Amino acid sequence: MIKSNSFPIGIFDSGIGGTSIWKEINTLLPSENTIYLADSKNAPYGDKSKEDIINLSIKNTEILLKKNCKLIVVACNTATTNAIKVLRNKYDVPFIGIEPAIKIAALNTKTNTIGILATKGTLNSELFEKTSNTLNKEIKIIEIIGKGLVELIESEKIESEAMKKLLSSYVSPLIKKNADCLVLGCTHYPYLIPQIKEIVGNHIQIIDSGEAVARQTKAILNKNSLLNTSNNQNSLHHFFINKDKKVMEMFVDQKKTKNITITKKEF
Ligand code: DGL
Repeated sequence: MIKSNSFPIGIFDSGIGGTSIWKEINTLLPSENTIYLADSKNAPYGDKSKEDIINLSIKNTEILLKKNCKLIVVACNTATTNAIKVLRNKYDVPFIGIEPAIKIAALNTKTNTIGILATKGTLNSELFEKTSNTLNKEIKIIEIIGKGLVELIESEKIESEAMKKLLSSYVSPLIKKNADCLVLGCTHYPYLIPQIKEIVGNHIQIIDSGEAVARQTKAILNKNSLLNTSNNQNSLHHFFINKDKKVMEMFVDQKKTKNITITKKEF
């Protein structure tokens, strides 16, 4: 089927994390219609096998394709690093993924030591290993599995004591180890930036790739003549979540962007 430039951009994540990417896309491309799938029922993806992550990514992609999405943003580092190759081979539609920005950190570090906070699935993926191997061998990468963080975010416990403790146990050792950059390798984590800053102060620069994903989305839409150039002031944004929709309402500001609907749906 020929895609039209008014068709929506499809976005999926294991939950609400990808809304951090949706916000960047909506800021850069306000005329674009979007459909977002939050597979919160199956979160976290980060502890699952590669095979399970691939199957869940296929399931999400097929739902978005049935809704006529013209391009799909895999707004999840875990799904990108484990499944995007399979998705690109299987479907014709363009895919944009998100990977931890360790290359940027490698360019910015002065101490030659960078931290990366991500899920087990991302850190153990072949794609992450491949990217890490391209870095200058003098750069030390400290890998931290953010076990438990996604679950706390998905259950609306960002501000909790449990979150503070867990986050501190993950990021404060970076200061002693002389790291000066911390890469956020999970789309849920940008929501933790204020708390991470409280722990690491000015010692560590936080690096996140959300904005770069939005720029890449624009470039690929343009390249495929799929950019919505209509100056559409009434773009539509449908969010589907397969768990309690209250959590989605917390992360997507329906006052700030008009024409947002949030629906709880089995998928
Ligand atoms: N938001 C996801 C990511 O970027 C997935 C987290 C998870 O479900 O484990 O990796």
